[in-house]
Amino acid sequence: MRVVIQENYENMSLWAARYIAGRINAHKEPRPFVLGLPTGSSPIGVYKELARMNKAGEVSFANVVTFNMDEYVGLPHEHDQSYWYFMHDNFFDHLVDMKPENINILNGMASDPEAECARYEAKIASYGGIDLFMGGIGVDGHIAFNEPFTSLASRTGLRALTTDTRIVNSRFFGNDPEKVPAYALSVGVGTVTDSKEVLILINGHNKARALAATVEGSVSHKWTCSALQMHNGAIIACDEAACGELTVDTYKYFLDIEKKERL
Ligand code: GLP
Repeated sequence: MRVVIQENYENMSLWAARYIAGRINAHKEPRPFVLGLPTGSSPIGVYKELARMNKAGEVSFANVVTFNMDEYVGLPHEHDQSYWYFMHDNFFDHLVDMKPENINILNGMASDPEAECARYEAKIASYGGIDLFMGGIGVDGHIAFNEPFTSLASRTGLRALTTDTRIVNSRFFGNDPEKVPAYALSVGVGTVTDSKEVLILINGHNKARALAATVEGSVSHKWTCSALQMHNGAIIACDEAACGELTVDTYKYFLDIEKKERL
């Protein structure tokens, strides 16, 4: 696992955006570059920088296919808290060459959620899998909507949200946890870890326990983020504020190793 520690949120975002753009630019195959994407406040800085680079001609999305991590059940596209709305508002609408038909987001209004999730997994497989999955993390260490005790082998499916997550996300729903949908469709932990590379953004003091569990904890379904320890291409991009629960040795180790030239 790489842990890339940046001074603050802005630098973390710039680092991650440039990393992703570098991967897209290095992709020379005719098959599209397949990019997994999250919602939340963590990736907003990355989306801004990628959109700026796209407008400046520094990265093209013409041959990129995207798959989003998750979507609330029961919110239509036009609802300003649906992840469909979030992604268009914060990212896709700002790109000059993203093809709408290359955008994939789970349909939280599907009458048959199981069939929708099976379709999604099959579509990911039809492209040969995901090249790079960017993600955020919940304060309880969830990746996508894989709450504590979701199987580390899980695939795309229907998820019940915990009371804790509904409370945390209620800041977007007038501070009323009851207004936060109780269910979501989400890629599984296994769907994420099947990707060739996984890049997780972890910023802010409130994510410090989650970062420590991801990097130093045991691999356990209690912290679904810990599955990344079993992935051969996992990168954590974080800010200083999120490092507060790491041991000094761990912190120094990653600063030291990241200073070294990559061969
Ligand atoms: C939601 C999403 C996650 C996201 C998390 C953290 O629960 N389903 O994918 O990582 O929020 O959000 P934020 O980045 O706003 O802290």
